[in-house]
Amino acid sequence: MHFLITAGPTREAIDPVRYISNRSSGKMGYALAAAAVARGHEVTLVSGPVSIPAPAGVRRISVVSAEEMYHAVQAHLPAVQIAIFSAAVADYRPASVAGQKIKKNDDQITLTLERTRDILGSARTAFGYRGILVGFAAETENVLANAASKLQRKGCDMLVANDVSGQETGFDTDQNEVTLLFRDASALPLPRAEKSGLAERIIDECERLAGG
Ligand code: PMT
Repeated sequence: MHFLITAGPTREAIDPVRYISNRSSGKMGYALAAAAVARGHEVTLVSGPVSIPAPAGVRRISVVSAEEMYHAVQAHLPAVQIAIFSAAVADYRPASVAGQKIKKNDDQITLTLERTRDILGSARTAFGYRGILVGFAAETENVLANAASKLQRKGCDMLVANDVSGQETGFDTDQNEVTLLFRDASALPLPRAEKSGLAERIIDECERLAGG
């Protein structure tokens, strides 16, 4: 089967030098891509800027901003049967990008931020995607409730909920601890483990949902 996987952060420009981003390293998404391609699946990896090489056999589409990721997913989604959205896409970006490097004249500067487009939220709507849809939820409180709500609102078949409030799991770590939520309200907690091992379990569930 053909997977589309998003991974890594996005960078939202403030001026030609500065940007807003987050601590996503891409490790979770790249582990998913490696696990899928190792099983013989075709993998298109839409990746924000990270310092990890693409796993062998994976087709990587490199993007920088949320808007670039939106268009890359829109272009490649129609060809795939399973889509996994593990990227830490910026929810906000500067409403305007300065043409020149902002000078350090004032003690404080104010940035007005605006919402970026919700790529996962566009899958079932604007993109008309009907394949298997897997979202992630990075939460720091009420993790399962927030994740269950996201699953329903985005029309996902599975939602990977991870508590990112700690230092040992989540962003830019080798391990994670997730709970897989499904449309039938069932849940599968996966204990803390290496992201590579968790990726195998997530791909197992994707194959099960796809009837593979
Ligand atoms: O990359 P690592 O360092 O390995 O860290 C892994 C991770 C913590 C980034 C990963 O496990 C994770 O939780 N990814 C989702 C991060 C995120 O943005 O979660 P969210 O709850 O803010 O977003 C919910 C879902 O909507 C996600 O599937 C996200 O990809 C998607 N989204 C969010 C915003 C947006 N504008 N478009 C989106 O598609």
